[in-house]
Amino acid sequence: MTPSTTATAGYYNDTVVRQFSIMSVVWGVVGMLVGVLIASQLAWPELNFGIPWLSYGRLRPLHTNAVIFAFGGSALIGTSYYVVQRTCQVRLFAAPLAAFSFWGWQLVIVAAAISLPLGYTSAKEYAELEWPIDILITLVWVAYAIVFFGTIGIRKVRHIYVANWFYGAFILAIALLHIVNSAAIPVSFMKSYSAYAGVQDAMVQWWYGHNAVGFFLTAGFLGMMYYFIPKQANRPVYSYRLSIVHFWALIFTYMWAGPHHLHYTALPDWTQSVGMVFSLILLAPSWGGMINGVMTLSGAWHKLRDDPILRFLIVSLSFYGMSTFEGPMMSIKTVNALSHYTDWTVGHVHSGALGWVGLITMGSLYYLIPRLFGREKMHSIKAIELHFWLATIGIVLYIAAMWIAGVMQGLMWRAVNTDGTLTYTFVESVKATYPFYVIRVLGGVLYLGGMLVMAWNVWVTASSGRSSTVAIPALKSAQA
Ligand code: HEM
Ligand code: HEM
Repeated sequence: MTPSTTATAGYYNDTVVRQFSIMSVVWGVVGMLVGVLIASQLAWPELNFGIPWLSYGRLRPLHTNAVIFAFGGSALIGTSYYVVQRTCQVRLFAAPLAAFSFWGWQLVIVAAAISLPLGYTSAKEYAELEWPIDILITLVWVAYAIVFFGTIGIRKVRHIYVANWFYGAFILAIALLHIVNSAAIPVSFMKSYSAYAGVQDAMVQWWYGHNAVGFFLTAGFLGMMYYFIPKQANRPVYSYRLSIVHFWALIFTYMWAGPHHLHYTALPDWTQSVGMVFSLILLAPSWGGMINGVMTLSGAWHKLRDDPILRFLIVSLSFYGMSTFEGPMMSIKTVNALSHYTDWTVGHVHSGALGWVGLITMGSLYYLIPRLFGREKMHSIKAIELHFWLATIGIVLYIAAMWIAGVMQGLMWRAVNTDGTLTYTFVESVKATYPFYVIRVLGGVLYLGGMLVMAWNVWVTASSGRSSTVAIPALKSAQA
């Protein structure tokens, strides 16, 4: 089954899609720039210049928030608004709320960009923002959910295309995770304490953290995959039946895997084992989905040769496959005993983040931008090609450096002499890691360079194009 579209592109509400798409590119540049800065600080610590708001501890959460919620979030909300209208063949439900979701989300991002460097934090990873911003996030998310599900409610097509199931699960799960994990008691403006204590707090946090990976960094982007790969390849999804099995298996399994972040902690041992078993099971739906995406190209493999956009989309899936193989392996307790606290985790994160999340977003935006701005294609196909290679080489440098550094650190920390003393001091492992931190900076610079090429290409395409939205009265008279 192919996602359906209509020839009357101007019929849809694409203003908000355009806004989110452009801001995704802008925040991508900003978030990756901060990524390169903190990667450089790890290699050359003097780069914090002794200024508190430039210190690593404050910029690291700024990086994660900017890339996940600003770059990834804007792309997810924007593409979901695009996809839901096309596949339901109606305009967005409650347009003013859609506009509010755009401006509200940007306000959240700006508030994060100011409050995190100033040192305001709840100290919960990926949920660092303080309570007034959390409330704003809740309002924006409710508006987003009303627009998305309202549009599905008024759809003209009986069937709900599978991409919408994934986007819908992403919206519902994030609402649940955010409300539960952010529950806190405010003690002043911009200071609060978690509603949970001790090991319960850790468990709730990693139930949130892991499902942020599962639903923010995975389910929503799978929604993108199910729409944009068939569209760009001009082929139906390989197996629609598999996509349904993929959906239910993935969302059921993800919810239980969180404790793999807390191996060998005070969390009850059986809970850690449950987390490990569900993580191993997770390999199956993840690979089922990846295969479904890749096989959509069956009979059209030759298109990969001269379509760089398709290459972005398909290579993203190979990184998805890689990180969802690596993740279950790292969740095995004995493997985790080696990998935890090392840069191996950071390598795993970025094979998923740069390879999967980054490339699928870029591919989808390259598909969208010309259509949103009334152009036949992006201004420069050569620049897309260049971006693809810069990004791919950048990812390989980044993740290979972190894998080697991580395994090395793990082995150095556990090495013991025959008399039972440690073979290496901690600082020796830091010294041995140094060259790999420099290679990571190089990988990051290449990846950021690719993003800058994209920003230029998008700018020229958008500024020389024209908006595809036509006035609704004009459309009505045309239809009459
Ligand atoms: C130019 C590209 C990038 C560079 C140079 C970069 C660099 C870094 C660095 C240096 C860290 C801190 C690692 C540590 O504390 O040891 C980090 C953390 C992180 N980054 Fe990136 N990053 C980039 C892009 C991205 C993107 C696009 C995403 C997501 C879509 C992302 C997601 C994350 C996450 C989730 C963490 C936290 C990892 C953890 O806690 O284990 N990064 N990044
Ligand atoms: C089957 C799928 C996956 C499983 C079972 C899995 C498993 C794991 C495990 C075991 C860890 C290490 C926990 C630790 O030692 O602290 C981890 C960390 C992480 N993974 Fe995955 N992973 C999967 C897929 C992904 C994907 C696709 C992404 C990104 C798009 C991702 C992002 C992360 C992040 C951000 C962390 C670091 C969390 C932190 O400590 O801040 N994972 N994952």
